[in-house]
Amino acid sequence: MGLNRQQLSTLNSQGYLVVPNFYSPEQCQLLKAEIRQIIRAEMDVNSRGRQMSATFNASVEVEKQNIGNYFIESGDKIRFFYEEDPDKENNEMFERPLNKIGHALHWHSKIFRKLSLEYCKTSSILRSLGFIKPSICQSMYIFKREKVGSAVRPHTDGTFQISTGAVVGFWVALEDATIRNGCLWFEPGSHQKEIQSFYERTDESNFETMKLRNPQQYDDSKFVPCEVKAGDLVLIDKAVIHKSEQNTSEKPRDAFTFHVNENYNADWSKLNWLQPTGRSASFPVVFDDSI
Ligand code: FE2
Repeated sequence: MGLNRQQLSTLNSQGYLVVPNFYSPEQCQLLKAEIRQIIRAEMDVNSRGRQMSATFNASVEVEKQNIGNYFIESGDKIRFFYEEDPDKENNEMFERPLNKIGHALHWHSKIFRKLSLEYCKTSSILRSLGFIKPSICQSMYIFKREKVGSAVRPHTDGTFQISTGAVVGFWVALEDATIRNGCLWFEPGSHQKEIQSFYERTDESNFETMKLRNPQQYDDSKFVPCEVKAGDLVLIDKAVIHKSEQNTSEKPRDAFTFHVNENYNADWSKLNWLQPTGRSASFPVVFDDSI
């Protein structure tokens, strides 16, 4: 179930790789049903008076995004981020379409945990990539709703997950992802250049002020689309440049994504926005071959 030599070679040369049928149609349905259950539970809590939520818009420059404590403290929680809608600024937040739910579905939901942290295909792939003590540092359910799902600006994941060790993104389509509904786009081979831009806390003890060090410009003509079927996995090297466009179609483009970081001989930067907090001194480990 791990990657074969051809797949490893493609990942090494392109910086990303499509692995077909990572989830079965039944597993995709299970995750979609679970997220509906999580939303219903949140709405129930909100109907009894709690009004915590935030918007998220990755189509604008990261420093102009409306990132507050609700986001910064979400690394070990399940939190809800809605699409921005400038025309409806005064309307009820919860009537807006969801942008994403994150960032610890793999801690709190048995089903998300089983299909990420405890999933045999996850560990097989990580072993074939040479991981020794991998942990999941974040997980997200991304909606990209029909007609309103916003674009994600070109970036490398290593800009937001700063480590001296390997970091790999697992991105699984839960609907067919096409150019029209906002599939991923990549600049193939761009991972061979060093990551230059880093999204950091201004100091280790400051959990509120983030800064993008050395922002980069990206060449739009170099991107190629990565259309995939529901259940297909896209593996994403931390240094490959990628983006997605707005969903202009009539179809949603749900995806489940989680990121895995190596802990063996690797330092997770204390300036990362995402830190193990409260519940645990470290992110949940997938397996540990180092002991
Ligand atoms: Fe990304």
